[in-house]
Amino acid sequence: MNDKEIRERIERGRNFIRSFNDEAEDYYTDQQLKKPQPPLTKAAMSDQIIALPHDLADLTIENDFLKIINGRCSHRVYTMEKMSLTELSYLLWCSQGVKEIRGKSYATLRTVPCGGARHEFECYMAIQNVEGLADGLYHYLPMKHEIEMLGTRDDLKDFISASLCGQSWAAKANIVFYYSAVFYRAEWRYGIHAHVPMLMDAGHITENVYLAAESIHRGGCAIAAVDGRIADAAFGPDGEEESIFYAMPVGTIRKEDQKAEQDFYAFVKEQGL
Ligand SMILES: Cc1cc2nc3c(=O)[nH]c(=O)nc-3n(C[C@H](O)[C@H](O)[C@H](O)COP(=O)(O)O)c2cc1C
Repeated sequence: MNDKEIRERIERGRNFIRSFNDEAEDYYTDQQLKKPQPPLTKAAMSDQIIALPHDLADLTIENDFLKIINGRCSHRVYTMEKMSLTELSYLLWCSQGVKEIRGKSYATLRTVPCGGARHEFECYMAIQNVEGLADGLYHYLPMKHEIEMLGTRDDLKDFISASLCGQSWAAKANIVFYYSAVFYRAEWRYGIHAHVPMLMDAGHITENVYLAAESIHRGGCAIAAVDGRIADAAFGPDGEEESIFYAMPVGTIRKEDQKAEQDFYAFVKEQGL
């Protein structure tokens, strides 16, 4: 790529962030035009549906809020011990759980905020070593707090690494959450202004995963470097109306691995940054 092309792509990115500055006269969104609202969530795609535990009594949850906030950090070294189905249930509830429906079926109100309560995301998972679940690919069904199994893969670890642009450390996580945007769910309400808030909304989800994981002594790391084409092909989004663009592995961790964690940033010291 030459300097001019680089400059143009950077400018395009900056303009995307500034998209609310654009004049948009005589513009009406589909909601304003009274077009039908798209479904609030994606329907199940398989008949292999698994209910998630609602009773969290089995979990030891840290409830000192400041301790959780101060303790939160990214973890990239996982010990590959088993996690429980209740832990998975807790992480999903804290990050995407549906608490209430606004109106008859206008919006879902969840454990995270979202512009216009559009909740335009779907959550897919690559799961290994979670009690009671076969290793494989799953999809969260937030309306009933269930998951569905989408399939198995012999190359699950390779898939995780390739779909996260070669970040092979993530293949030791028990759960890798993959988030897609179902674009029209937000575009119906916000049209040409839907896309910047989508990124803001996605950040709330992973922050809740960070905090929930910290509160049960598990660790994770938000990941922007996602190869959406590989992830879409595995989980089903068509890459047109729905695309996977964000991920977060979560796994079991231990204090002794702090040095290994710091090694990810050894270059800071080496390069005197
Ligand atoms: C939006 C976002 C994208 C990120 N993408 C990656 C990534 O692709 N790979 C990675 O190793 N860490 C990624 N991180 C983790 C950051 O590097 C990490 O949050 C940062 O170094 C600060 O460390 P802390 O989370 O421990 O405070 C991402 C974090 C966020 C919020």
